Amino acid sequence: MTAPKKLFVKTYGCQMNVYDSERMAEALAPAGYVTTQAAEEADLILLNTCHIREKAAEKVYSELGRLKPLKAANPRLKIGLAGCVAQAEGAEILARAPAVDLVVGPQSYHRLPALEARARAGARAVETEFPAEDKFDALPARPKARRGPTAFLTVQEGCDKFCSFCVVPYTRGAEASRPAARVLAEARDLVERGVREITLLGQNVNAYHGAAEGGEWSLARLIRALAAIDGLERIRYTTSHPCDMTDDLIAAHGEEPKLMPYLHLPVQSGSDRILKAMNRKHTAESYLRLIERLRAARPDILMSSDFIVGFPGETEEDFAETMALVEAVGYGQAFSFKYSARPGTPAAERPGLAAEVADHRLQRLQALLTKQAQAIQQAMVGREVTVLFEKAGRLPGQMAGKSEHLHAVHAEAPGMAPGALRRLRIVAANPHSLTGALLPETAPA
Ligand code: 5AD
Ligand code: SF4
Repeated sequence: MTAPKKLFVKTYGCQMNVYDSERMAEALAPAGYVTTQAAEEADLILLNTCHIREKAAEKVYSELGRLKPLKAANPRLKIGLAGCVAQAEGAEILARAPAVDLVVGPQSYHRLPALEARARAGARAVETEFPAEDKFDALPARPKARRGPTAFLTVQEGCDKFCSFCVVPYTRGAEASRPAARVLAEARDLVERGVREITLLGQNVNAYHGAAEGGEWSLARLIRALAAIDGLERIRYTTSHPCDMTDDLIAAHGEEPKLMPYLHLPVQSGSDRILKAMNRKHTAESYLRLIERLRAARPDILMSSDFIVGFPGETEEDFAETMALVEAVGYGQAFSFKYSARPGTPAAERPGLAAEVADHRLQRLQALLTKQAQAIQQAMVGREVTVLFEKAGRLPGQMAGKSEHLHAVHAEAPGMAPGALRRLRIVAANPHSLTGALLPETAPA
């Protein structure tokens, strides 16, 4: 028997890249690859790149520089570039960086075994088409190896929204949904392997409209079908666009106990003028009304968002409207970024703001968001939560997991197995986590 070849994948960026990296490893398994955590012993290194914000290509070049000595030491080593930088700039990088042996865009990972074989034969291969087939359809049946209690599952990819700052519609292509039956089969397989919480992924996940018997299913319909799977305890989804937050999805938050009370719903800005310039197709007011309806359906839902500050043309008044919107919502978590011009997007043509102005706004926004998140964490003290334990905590005897509201919680729980769902009382709030104490398990009635 030949020794297995070793694959090292370095993942940048979003959760979808984390999911894709796992699938790439599975696609390469029939070609004799096992994964390794050590780049030095790899026969193939894949950089799964992200293009969403600044300096993406520079990061790739500097990583390639760091990998050069490995290539010199191991002539068998092949290096591949995957992800959105590969899609957007792969051909150029291939021309400039002789260390790269193959380039594969996000829609072509099922072709990795063939690309790897071509690279081994000495040809440098590029694959950045948007083929019609589902990129993970062709995956071999997976061995039923146990895995951790949480998993991502991609249900939708690409985006048709064309926000004027964003590269996703260009790197991930048009919006496409995976058929419902495939999603359900993958979810059942995950549950059989020990998964108890699934996060449905998509760049625009709530635009999901997967083919199913009897017509297309919405995301809400899919969530209700997933909730019927025994052993699956929790469902989450990300990332959503406010314009696709349909009535049935809002209703599901009130009616489906397995759907967790947490929603990442990026607003980007609180100024209608800037939202229009961003081509967001919603207003601050319509976003706030949406949150009211979500809270009416599920009063304890915790909101999360993305923000961009320093968008071209943003005035101090526009920024004040963003701060006012944040005050009005009260976010449990948020991600905020300084605008960066992405080549090829409409906003990149517009004159930008002075860096110091954007920096100062970002600091003020982050200070407010941190204050809100911490106040919400603090308010959890004394409350009962359910935690899905995922792994050992930092101290001996501790276990760590997540609450319904996605708060990181740790507790003294010696001997507790990952995958256990337990009631806890929160006894302290730390800057980035909560401390809980196990409550006695009540006997079933
Ligand atoms: N500049 C800054 N932030 C951006 N994002 C997307 N494109 C840009 C850009 N050009 C942010 C948005 C998005 C998140 C994933 O990244 O807030 O929701
Ligand atoms: Fe990008 Fe999201 Fe806008 Fe789509 S909806 S263009 S992914 S920011």
